[in-house]
Amino acid sequence: MSGRAEVPVIAIDGPVGSGKGTIARRVAEALGWHLLDSGALYRLVALAAANRGVALDDVDQLVALAANLDARFGSDAAGNEQIWLEGEDATAAIRTEEAGAGASTVAVLQPVRDALFQLQRDFRQPPGLVADGRDMGTHVFTDATLKVFLTASAEERAKRRHKQLKDKGIDVSLAALSRDIEERDRRDSERSVAPLRPAEDARVLDSSGMSIEAVVATVLDWAG
Ligand code: DC
Repeated sequence: MSGRAEVPVIAIDGPVGSGKGTIARRVAEALGWHLLDSGALYRLVALAAANRGVALDDVDQLVALAANLDARFGSDAAGNEQIWLEGEDATAAIRTEEAGAGASTVAVLQPVRDALFQLQRDFRQPPGLVADGRDMGTHVFTDATLKVFLTASAEERAKRRHKQLKDKGIDVSLAALSRDIEERDRRDSERSVAPLRPAEDARVLDSSGMSIEAVVATVLDWAG
């Protein structure tokens, strides 16, 4: 392999609760490829800001945090994801709704996105990368081999997210979650920088009513 650009990338973008995190992980496992959870990077910036008392509108400080993000990704013996921020286990902390909302807030700032751009591209390593996010196909990996825009009905996304959080012992009401999801969808799609939308050459997959296995099989089939 002579250059990064030749390393294949499957970009999986979509809104909150579309299941893209699970699907991306399963597809990466099936292919034996690397995985980039780009949302985790935005969550880590928000968390680092909270830890250091940096306001979510202090662009200079946020850019400094993003540019020097000391993050490590791995998994425990059972294969569950583990994420460290500045040497501290941040696995649970970045998955809270608060961190998600903070991520969505810092993600509207173009300088923060710029600071994370190269870090994301560095994940492109042989034999291949599955990249999960909002702008993988539209900005970060515009030359991806396959671009999937994964979605599902708003109701189903709220329910899935509710179950996901409950399984992690995080208790939030479904109504509050639906409101949060709508708010986050709106902010992510209406922002002027890198808004959430399918790339022109993306294949759109509505996973409402589909099993995880069926969605994974579809993506693998498209990947050829
Ligand atoms: O996928 P997630 O819920 O972990 O993402 C958290 C937030 O980060 C999301 O609301 C928008 C932002 N984000 C982004 O702007 N671009 C990405 N590629 C990934 C996430």
